Amino acid sequence: MVFILWIIYRPKTVRAHVTAVFPSVFTLTSNSTLVYNFTLHVSIQNPNRKVGLYYDDISAEAQYDSIPFGLVYKFPPFFQHKRNITVFPLVFVGRAFGLRSVQKKFEREKREGWFYVELKICTKMRLKIEFVKVGRYSPEIDCAVKLPVMANGSDVKFERSECDVDKF
Ligand SMILES: *[C@@H]1O[C@H](CO)[C@@H](O)[C@H](O)[C@H]1NC(C)=O
Ligand SMILES: *[C@@H]1O[C@H](CO)[C@@H](O)[C@H](O)[C@H]1NC(C)=O
Ligand SMILES: *[C@@H]1O[C@H](CO)[C@@H](O)[C@H](O)[C@H]1NC(C)=O
Ligand SMILES: *[C@@H]1O[C@H](CO)[C@@H](O)[C@H](O)[C@H]1NC(C)=O
Repeated sequence: MVFILWIIYRPKTVRAHVTAVFPSVFTLTSNSTLVYNFTLHVSIQNPNRKVGLYYDDISAEAQYDSIPFGLVYKFPPFFQHKRNITVFPLVFVGRAFGLRSVQKKFEREKREGWFYVELKICTKMRLKIEFVKVGRYSPEIDCAVKLPVMANGSDVKFERSECDVDKF
Protein backbone atom coordinates (compact mmCIF):
# COMPACT_ATOMS: atom_id res chain seq x y z
CA MET A 1 0.00 0.00 0.00
CA VAL A 2 2.67 2.48 1.05
CA PHE A 3 4.80 1.32 -1.82
CA ILE A 4 2.02 1.93 -4.32
CA LEU A 5 1.33 5.42 -2.96
CA TRP A 6 5.03 6.04 -3.19
CA ILE A 7 5.16 5.06 -6.83
CA ILE A 8 2.15 7.17 -7.69
CA TYR A 9 2.96 10.29 -5.70
CA ARG A 10 6.75 10.19 -5.74
CA PRO A 11 7.23 12.36 -2.65
CA LYS A 12 10.25 14.62 -2.66
CA THR A 13 12.18 15.57 0.41
CA VAL A 14 12.04 19.08 1.84
CA ARG A 15 14.27 21.93 0.76
CA ALA A 16 15.83 24.24 3.28
CA HIS A 17 17.73 27.51 3.17
CA VAL A 18 19.10 29.98 5.61
CA THR A 19 17.45 33.09 4.24
CA ALA A 20 18.62 35.75 6.64
CA VAL A 21 21.26 36.29 9.28
CA PHE A 22 21.24 39.12 11.77
CA PRO A 23 24.53 38.96 13.56
CA SER A 24 25.51 41.25 16.31
CA VAL A 25 28.05 39.40 18.42
CA PHE A 26 30.25 36.36 17.86
CA THR A 27 33.50 36.46 19.77
CA LEU A 28 35.85 34.19 21.63
CA THR A 29 37.27 35.74 24.79
CA SER A 30 40.79 35.11 26.08
CA ASN A 31 39.39 32.61 28.60
CA SER A 32 37.81 30.54 25.79
CA THR A 33 34.26 31.76 26.29
CA LEU A 34 32.22 32.04 23.13
CA VAL A 35 29.96 35.06 23.42
CA TYR A 36 27.24 35.13 20.80
CA ASN A 37 24.12 36.96 19.82
CA PHE A 38 22.66 36.38 16.38
CA THR A 39 19.41 35.53 14.67
CA LEU A 40 18.89 33.21 11.72
CA HIS A 41 15.90 32.67 9.54
CA VAL A 42 15.59 29.17 8.19
CA SER A 43 13.05 28.44 5.54
CA ILE A 44 11.81 24.90 4.97
CA GLN A 45 9.81 24.16 1.89
CA ASN A 46 7.55 21.27 1.06
CA PRO A 47 8.12 21.00 -2.70
CA ASN A 48 5.38 18.42 -3.26
CA ARG A 49 2.25 19.25 -5.23
CA LYS A 50 0.20 16.40 -3.81
CA VAL A 51 1.78 15.52 -0.50
CA GLY A 52 1.40 17.34 2.82
CA LEU A 53 3.87 16.91 5.66
CA TYR A 54 3.27 16.37 9.34
CA TYR A 55 6.22 17.56 11.39
CA ASP A 56 5.77 15.51 14.53
CA ASP A 57 9.02 16.72 15.93
CA ILE A 58 11.45 19.40 14.89
CA SER A 59 14.42 20.76 16.77
CA ALA A 60 17.39 22.93 15.87
CA GLU A 61 20.76 23.57 17.42
CA ALA A 62 23.87 25.50 16.44
CA GLN A 63 27.36 24.06 16.49
CA TYR A 64 30.75 25.59 16.06
CA ASP A 65 33.50 23.22 15.02
CA SER A 66 31.00 20.43 15.74
CA ILE A 67 30.55 21.61 19.34
CA PRO A 68 26.94 22.41 20.23
CA PHE A 69 26.45 25.75 21.90
CA GLY A 70 23.35 27.59 22.92
CA LEU A 71 19.98 26.14 23.51
CA VAL A 72 18.23 23.55 21.44
CA TYR A 73 15.06 24.83 19.84
CA LYS A 74 12.09 22.55 19.88
CA PHE A 75 9.08 23.56 17.82
CA PRO A 76 5.54 22.42 18.35
CA PRO A 77 4.27 19.85 15.85
CA PHE A 78 2.69 21.34 12.76
CA PHE A 79 1.28 20.42 9.39
CA GLN A 80 2.76 21.84 6.22
CA HIS A 81 0.49 22.10 3.22
CA LYS A 82 1.48 21.19 -0.29
CA ARG A 83 3.99 23.59 -1.79
CA ASN A 84 4.22 25.64 1.40
CA ILE A 85 7.19 27.36 2.94
CA THR A 86 7.65 27.75 6.69
CA VAL A 87 10.14 30.22 8.07
CA PHE A 88 11.66 29.68 11.50
CA PRO A 89 13.37 32.58 13.22
CA LEU A 90 16.06 31.27 15.55
CA VAL A 91 17.68 33.51 18.13
CA PHE A 92 21.00 32.45 19.60
CA VAL A 93 22.15 34.58 22.48
CA GLY A 94 24.36 33.62 25.39
CA ARG A 95 27.81 32.34 26.20
CA ALA A 96 29.46 28.94 26.06
CA PHE A 97 32.45 28.14 28.23
CA GLY A 98 35.58 26.12 27.69
CA LEU A 99 35.81 26.30 23.91
CA ARG A 100 39.60 26.26 23.81
CA SER A 101 39.59 23.77 20.93
CA VAL A 102 37.87 26.19 18.54
CA GLN A 103 40.49 28.90 18.90
CA LYS A 104 42.44 28.11 15.71
CA LYS A 105 39.32 27.94 13.60
CA PHE A 106 38.02 31.12 15.17
CA GLU A 107 41.22 33.09 14.51
CA ARG A 108 41.46 31.86 10.93
CA GLU A 109 37.86 32.66 10.13
CA LYS A 110 38.12 36.04 11.77
CA ARG A 111 40.94 36.87 9.36
CA GLU A 112 38.99 35.47 6.41
CA GLY A 113 35.87 37.48 7.19
CA TRP A 114 33.28 34.80 7.89
CA PHE A 115 32.55 32.51 10.78
CA TYR A 116 31.13 29.17 9.74
CA VAL A 117 28.49 28.00 12.16
CA GLU A 118 26.66 24.75 11.59
CA LEU A 119 22.95 24.56 12.08
CA LYS A 120 21.58 21.06 12.65
CA ILE A 121 17.87 20.50 12.35
CA CYS A 122 16.40 17.14 13.32
CA THR A 123 12.92 16.23 12.22
CA LYS A 124 10.43 13.44 12.50
CA MET A 125 7.74 13.55 9.87
CA ARG A 126 4.98 11.67 8.18
CA LEU A 127 3.44 12.23 4.79
CA LYS A 128 -0.16 13.03 4.09
CA ILE A 129 -1.26 11.56 0.80
CA GLU A 130 -4.92 12.13 0.10
CA PHE A 131 -6.45 11.25 3.47
CA VAL A 132 -3.79 8.84 4.56
CA LYS A 133 -0.88 9.47 6.92
CA VAL A 134 2.00 7.31 5.80
CA GLY A 135 5.63 6.68 6.51
CA ARG A 136 7.95 7.76 9.25
CA TYR A 137 10.92 9.79 8.16
CA SER A 138 13.57 11.60 10.08
CA PRO A 139 15.45 13.70 7.58
CA GLU A 140 18.30 15.67 9.07
CA ILE A 141 18.93 19.14 7.73
CA ASP A 142 22.44 20.57 7.86
CA CYS A 143 23.09 24.21 7.12
CA ALA A 144 26.44 25.94 6.89
CA VAL A 145 25.75 29.43 8.16
CA LYS A 146 28.15 32.22 7.31
CA LEU A 147 28.28 34.90 9.97
CA PRO A 148 30.03 37.98 8.65
CA VAL A 149 32.84 39.05 10.93
CA MET A 150 32.49 42.80 10.68
CA ALA A 151 28.80 42.82 11.15
CA ASN A 152 27.79 44.95 14.08
CA GLY A 153 24.28 45.76 13.20
CA SER A 154 24.23 47.93 10.15
CA ASP A 155 24.64 47.01 6.50
CA VAL A 156 25.42 43.36 6.81
CA LYS A 157 26.55 41.49 3.76
CA PHE A 158 24.86 38.15 3.70
CA GLU A 159 24.75 35.14 1.46
CA ARG A 160 21.69 32.97 1.45
CA SER A 161 22.85 29.42 1.90
CA GLU A 162 21.36 26.14 0.87
CA CYS A 163 21.14 23.34 3.41
CA ASP A 164 21.82 19.67 2.87
CA VAL A 165 18.82 17.48 3.46
CA ASP A 166 18.83 13.72 3.80
CA LYS A 167 16.57 11.89 1.43
CA PHE A 168 13.34 10.51 2.72
C1 LIG B 1 35.36 34.30 30.94
O1 LIG B 1 35.11 35.62 30.53
C2 LIG B 1 33.73 35.90 30.34
C3 LIG B 1 33.60 37.27 29.71
O2 LIG B 1 34.57 38.16 30.16
C4 LIG B 1 33.02 35.80 31.68
O3 LIG B 1 31.66 36.11 31.54
C5 LIG B 1 33.17 34.38 32.18
O4 LIG B 1 32.58 34.25 33.47
C6 LIG B 1 34.62 33.95 32.23
N1 LIG B 1 34.63 32.52 32.43
C7 LIG B 1 35.46 31.90 33.28
C8 LIG B 1 35.34 30.41 33.32
O5 LIG B 1 36.27 32.50 33.92
C1 LIG C 1 21.47 40.93 21.09
O1 LIG C 1 21.48 41.72 19.93
C2 LIG C 1 20.29 42.46 19.75
C3 LIG C 1 20.40 43.16 18.40
O2 LIG C 1 21.58 43.88 18.29
C4 LIG C 1 20.10 43.41 20.91
O3 LIG C 1 18.90 44.13 20.73
C5 LIG C 1 20.03 42.61 22.21
O4 LIG C 1 19.93 43.47 23.33
C6 LIG C 1 21.27 41.75 22.34
N1 LIG C 1 21.10 40.88 23.51
C7 LIG C 1 22.05 40.70 24.41
C8 LIG C 1 21.71 39.82 25.56
O5 LIG C 1 23.15 41.21 24.32
C1 LIG D 1 0.07 26.96 1.29
O1 LIG D 1 -0.90 25.92 1.18
C2 LIG D 1 -2.20 26.38 0.92
C3 LIG D 1 -3.13 25.19 0.99
O2 LIG D 1 -2.68 24.13 0.18
C4 LIG D 1 -2.24 27.09 -0.41
O3 LIG D 1 -3.52 27.57 -0.66
C5 LIG D 1 -1.25 28.25 -0.38
O4 LIG D 1 -1.19 28.86 -1.62
C6 LIG D 1 0.13 27.77 0.01
N1 LIG D 1 1.00 28.92 0.20
C7 LIG D 1 2.21 29.00 -0.34
C8 LIG D 1 2.98 30.22 -0.01
O5 LIG D 1 2.66 28.15 -1.06
C1 LIG E 1 31.31 48.14 13.13
O1 LIG E 1 32.62 47.60 13.32
C2 LIG E 1 33.61 48.23 12.56
C3 LIG E 1 34.90 47.47 12.75
O2 LIG E 1 35.06 47.03 14.08
C4 LIG E 1 33.70 49.70 12.98
O3 LIG E 1 34.66 50.33 12.19
C5 LIG E 1 32.34 50.37 12.78
O4 LIG E 1 32.37 51.69 13.25
C6 LIG E 1 31.25 49.59 13.51
N1 LIG E 1 29.94 50.15 13.15
C7 LIG E 1 29.00 50.39 14.05
C8 LIG E 1 27.70 50.90 13.50
O5 LIG E 1 29.14 50.18 15.22
